[in-house]
Amino acid sequence: MQSSPDPRHQWHEMTVSRVIRETGDACSLVFDVPVELAEVFSYRAGQFLTLRVPWQDGSLDRCYSLASSPDSDPEHKVTIKRVEDGRVSNWLNENVAEGDVLRVLPPAGHFHLGHGRAGSESDLFLFAGGSGITPVISILKTALVTGSRRVSMLYANRDHDSVIFDAELAQLESRYGDRFDLQRRYDDSDGFLDLAGVRALSAGNGDREFFVCGPGPFMEVVEQGLRDELVPVEQVHVEHFVSPPDVDDEKVAREQEKAAEQAREQAADSGEVIKVVVVIDGHEHELEPEPGQTVVAAAEAAGISVPFSCTEGYCACCMAQLVEGEVKMLRNDVLTPAEVEDGWVLTCQAVALSGRVRVEYPD
Ligand SMILES: Cc1cc2nc3c(=O)[nH]c(=O)nc-3n(C[C@H](O)[C@H](O)[C@H](O)COP(=O)(O)OP(=O)(O)OC[C@H]3O[C@@H](n4cnc5c(N)ncnc54)[C@H](O)[C@@H]3O)c2cc1C
Ligand code: FES
Repeated sequence: MQSSPDPRHQWHEMTVSRVIRETGDACSLVFDVPVELAEVFSYRAGQFLTLRVPWQDGSLDRCYSLASSPDSDPEHKVTIKRVEDGRVSNWLNENVAEGDVLRVLPPAGHFHLGHGRAGSESDLFLFAGGSGITPVISILKTALVTGSRRVSMLYANRDHDSVIFDAELAQLESRYGDRFDLQRRYDDSDGFLDLAGVRALSAGNGDREFFVCGPGPFMEVVEQGLRDELVPVEQVHVEHFVSPPDVDDEKVAREQEKAAEQAREQAADSGEVIKVVVVIDGHEHELEPEPGQTVVAAAEAAGISVPFSCTEGYCACCMAQLVEGEVKMLRNDVLTPAEVEDGWVLTCQAVALSGRVRVEYPD
């Protein structure tokens, strides 16, 4: 992780004010955000925090979406579901108690209302599977509290006992029943959601914004179903819950070094001075990265503040549109082929290959 004077990219010590046992295999951690960090920790519904936990001789970092809404909940809350043999998810479920202090990176991420067309007042269709409910319920609450959107939602779970936020969802249904409809689905009695099911749900809803988060196979079927129904890609927003590659894994490290070397050679062969123009918050900045240096690293070196969190290619919070030139992404564990095709790049992994490159960060 790179160091930066910008508090949005620094680790902060945060006290856990409450631990909520949600289900047999999931807990929520509520954080006490000090007043002086309120601005740095302000967030949009759907964004995530990154937690650092001690592990063996070092530490491990993982992202957890905020399940609270900035528009209806006074506190920051993340919810962690155990993953079989997962290191951090089990550690957090077993070890954290009220009053403990954790190291936390401020909110980040692009899976929120306001991304793409989603800033509009379009009606929403939300697909959540298992722990994928966390950013989705945040978006749901904000949508219901702040506007007049109609919201449909499908929430799939293994069985009834594994449902997180059941009571909270029931309250939202009874309070906003005129514009919120929720379909619950259980694998043990209803079977897995299939393509026909997704098509049936999305038929006639093609003008809505879709937010999708859940296990890999669930997301694949939903994304395919929406493609089949010809829902425009800019109306479909997805969040992938992935862990970072193990940095101490020698194979991963070798692959990364090889990719960086290749990028350096290609850039040197072209013989051009590499210039990267970064457009952020309406301002243009021209950078001259070292061969093989990523856009984020070059921006940081030049004192330009750009969004990033994991810097390892799995959280997507550094994504930007490549509008000119050619880059190589050293790693990409999160952007889909369709997003890459659409011009999105992870700037923490993007190394310029051609003489002039221009990347534009979304608002
Ligand atoms: C943007 C974002 C938001 C997220 N939000 C949430 C959320 O709200 N709630 C939530 O519960 N999760 C969320 N996640 C997922 C979360 O960050 C972790 O990926 C998840 O908790 C698993 O981490 P872990 O350390 O427990 O598992 P890991 O230890 O990373 O293991 C993951 C898988 O790899 C296997 N594995 C274990 N050890 C190793 C090893 N040494 N080498 C290779 N493989 C190994 C495990 O068996 C497991 O199947 C989010 C992820 C992202 C990127
Ligand atoms: S900062 Fe996480 S993917 Fe780039």
